[in-house]
Amino acid sequence: MTTKWGGAVAAAIIMAAGVGLWGGSAAGQSVAGENDRPPASAPGNALSARQAQAAAQAKMAAHGEELFGQRCKSCHMPPVEHAPSRAELAAQFPNVIIDALKTGKMQAMASGLSDSDVASIAVFITGQSPDAHFDLTGESRNACPAGAKFNPAGPSWNGWSPDKQNTRVAASTTITAANAPKLAVKWAFAYQGGRYGEPTVVGNRVFVTSSSGQVYALDRQTGCVAWAYKARGSVRVTVSVGKNAKAPSGWAAYFGDMSRNQVAVDANTGKELWHVLIDSGGRGILTGAPALWGDTLYVPLSSFEEGVAGLAAYECCKQRGAVAAVDILTGKIKWKSYAIPTAPAPFKKNAVGTQMFGPAGAAIWSSPTIDPKRGVLYVATGDSYTNVEEAYSDAVEAMDLKTGKIKWAHQMTEEDHFLVGCPQQAPGVNCPTPNGPDFDFGSSPILKHMKGGKDMLFAGQKSGQVYGLNPDDGKIIWQTRIGKGSALGGVEWGMSADNDNLYVGIADRSLPSISALRLTDGALVWRHRAPDPKCSFEGRCGNGYSGPSSLAGGVLFTVNQDGHIRAFLAKTGEPVWDYDTAGRRYETVNGVKNQRGGNLDATGMSIAGGMAFVMAGFNGASGSSGPDNVLLAFSVDGK
Ligand code: HEC
Repeated sequence: MTTKWGGAVAAAIIMAAGVGLWGGSAAGQSVAGENDRPPASAPGNALSARQAQAAAQAKMAAHGEELFGQRCKSCHMPPVEHAPSRAELAAQFPNVIIDALKTGKMQAMASGLSDSDVASIAVFITGQSPDAHFDLTGESRNACPAGAKFNPAGPSWNGWSPDKQNTRVAASTTITAANAPKLAVKWAFAYQGGRYGEPTVVGNRVFVTSSSGQVYALDRQTGCVAWAYKARGSVRVTVSVGKNAKAPSGWAAYFGDMSRNQVAVDANTGKELWHVLIDSGGRGILTGAPALWGDTLYVPLSSFEEGVAGLAAYECCKQRGAVAAVDILTGKIKWKSYAIPTAPAPFKKNAVGTQMFGPAGAAIWSSPTIDPKRGVLYVATGDSYTNVEEAYSDAVEAMDLKTGKIKWAHQMTEEDHFLVGCPQQAPGVNCPTPNGPDFDFGSSPILKHMKGGKDMLFAGQKSGQVYGLNPDDGKIIWQTRIGKGSALGGVEWGMSADNDNLYVGIADRSLPSISALRLTDGALVWRHRAPDPKCSFEGRCGNGYSGPSSLAGGVLFTVNQDGHIRAFLAKTGEPVWDYDTAGRRYETVNGVKNQRGGNLDATGMSIAGGMAFVMAGFNGASGSSGPDNVLLAFSVDGK
């Protein structure tokens, strides 16, 4: 699975001198309302201090440029395929680059570098001081009034899907085909790096995460910030919220970070209850929303090893997808079950003599699906990283809820061994032969209780193939190919289902589309083909339906890479609403003016009651004056 990039942002966001130097809160801490103002500097010393700082920054940038040339240029200067370009990286805040090198996907590229080397690279790439980051503890904060409390009562969209079966149907909503065309932005909230985590709505709060490492709880009606929590790494999962007897408010919010820490905080205050390291392997990441069931949190483990393992000195490959069952009260791991049960072992040396390991791969990118009746959870896995054979990559699996034991695994694509950059960028050494096709499952399986009493499980793959399975044994009941598929095509981030149809978005360049397939046999009920790409934002413009769709009141809400939300009658495919998130500028409730939306990709709409939430700007939005994402809260007529 390779995540997508786009939206070339030409200019770095240059922050005013000094902004950001006072930093944010320490990792693992939440900040309540009114504190944490920057210390006032003595006016007399301000100028010389600023000059000294500018000189130090210039020195760092020069050093960073040298290191970038040695270590990063080969993959991050055009022509780039799987990697973001230098210009795109420039739109990030320095802490995002630093996180990627120290705890994230680019760790292997930074091996042997000191903290100051890493900071220098970030300064060079972004043109900003090393600790500059968009931080809502400062001026841009719009804190909720003191005394505002979390109230869980009311409609919710809790986690990746409001139900444990991952159908993505709004449980309780007043939105219908009649009022959907009147949806209008009630408030907008600007923040940096919110590209992956879908908003979670519970009662009077909306919980959002970001790759800057900040997790926020916002008021659902106004967007004011109830609390902010600084995680130990960047965060791209969707938050899950549930009752927790040890939380002072009785409710906890759960999320994991890219450094593999699973965290529980009090849902009212954001104060940490516990955290636990899910995996010690340096290339693991947490990307799928934790699934909450009873007193257990089921945390999927994914990995970025396929993105870094091309280097000759890298001992490819040791990372496997897994699910960890975590006790919600203590944070203790009850069991951890690997998607590939066999541990990686040495199998050969590469051309320069580095030991290679396998089997590896089968990352779990998406949220597990819970089946209490059968006492199992279902996961779908990604590709393999080495030429060692196994039967668990690109598979759908059922694991026992109590023990993690794999009850069945059905591999849909055999021998899909894949490393990013092979064979062009990392010629030879660790590259599997053949490389790819990179047909991961990146999205959650959907479990449906069918009319007539049977149950079925549905899964969609980057190959463009969609499957209807028997949940008892994983046997295929039907399969249909509705896209050509590719590393960044086919079914990417998620599907949705009502009692009649499965709704499948296809990201393929050749036929970007939304299809309704009949649950019982996979027959095509209707198909909408995306209009040719025409984007209101600058930069890489696509028209794939890569993001997950959502259902509410008989209406299917889809998100497209062109920045549009399009809504259709679920039954017939008749269009009912089209909203261009990048078509206008937003005055945000947290004080960033002229903010623009943009490309919609990894996350879809979260719909609860009369409101719907979406995060716009997956690629970053050039030309905006502030951070690169905007969270949009919709209601009928914006009321
Ligand atoms: C062998 C090729 C390669 C080299 C060398 C490389 N990168 Fe990357 N980098 C990638 C790829 C591929 C991605 C996209 C990964 C994805 O999104 O799945 C990426 C992503 C990133 C990201 C975004 C990470 C995120 O979490 O979203 C940053 C930041 C980055 N690289 C910085 C660097 C820096 C700085 C260097 C040099 C020290 C470097 N890279 C060297 C291939 C490379």
